[in-house]
Amino acid sequence: MGSNIYNPKNKLNDLTGSEWKFATKSVINKAYPINMQHKMRSEHGGQKPPELCADLIKIFTKKGQKVLDPFMGVGGTLLGASLIGREALGIDVNPRWVEIYKEVTKLEHLSEQETIIGDSSKELNNLEDESFDFILTDVPYWNMDSLKKTRNKKIKQSKLSNFENENNNQTKEEWLNQMADILEKASKKLKKGKYMAVFIGDMYREGEYHMLSGELAIKLSKIEDLKLKANLIWEDNSKSLHVFGYPSAFVPSMIHQNILILRRD
Ligand SMILES: C[S@@+](CC[C@H](N)C(=O)[O-])C[C@H]1O[C@@H](n2cnc3c(N)ncnc32)[C@H](O)[C@@H]1O
Repeated sequence: MGSNIYNPKNKLNDLTGSEWKFATKSVINKAYPINMQHKMRSEHGGQKPPELCADLIKIFTKKGQKVLDPFMGVGGTLLGASLIGREALGIDVNPRWVEIYKEVTKLEHLSEQETIIGDSSKELNNLEDESFDFILTDVPYWNMDSLKKTRNKKIKQSKLSNFENENNNQTKEEWLNQMADILEKASKKLKKGKYMAVFIGDMYREGEYHMLSGELAIKLSKIEDLKLKANLIWEDNSKSLHVFGYPSAFVPSMIHQNILILRRD
């Protein structure tokens, strides 16, 4: 362990001992480049850096293995998979995001991965059970702002609320249950002993911190066969600081996202 040698007994990935050790860090603070048609992909607002996705995929798969993303957006996971020679399948309910993903692959001369336009709660039923080696996904935003009609102008203009209006008007409990239902279906598509990684941002709204990562982790831990193994923190260096509460209240600048790691036992 800790050596620069690949252990032939390694069943999980293609990393050497020292790469494996580095990958166990619970905080990811590497600065990822703003590249791969970032401007085009940022129409989405919730896009993830493809190289960050590639780094995660490298930890949980071997070359040639297959990754599923039931909430693919503009394809952070799919692009990451193409960068490092993995296969992937992505699903998104919004055709615009799939169209942008396809355009990006052309411009970047990358292989186009398989995509499905549709609602994952239905589309996942058509996929074969135990046919994927890893799930890397990023749950749609809980649109509390549209639930509470009191949102102010700044929040109304937030890019985050642009990218999925199908989750409007849900209570937090309804949203958590919908996410857990879809991720339970997705987990059945994982081979036994394989992992699922879920990006989820916490939220600060109207004077209250919502630890969505913890709340979703509890729901997912209740799914049969799935066990929570880690919570990685990704420090998003592209986020800027704000001073909403200054000078009377502490309001966090949300520059991190959580990545829940679960394993199908
Ligand atoms: C946070 S974004 C994913 C962003 C992605 N990681 C990327 O790099 O672009 C979540 C996506 O889930 C999609 N979505 C929401 N509900 C869905 C559903 N029921 N089935 C499939 N896709 C859904 C939204 O359209 C949105 O693009």
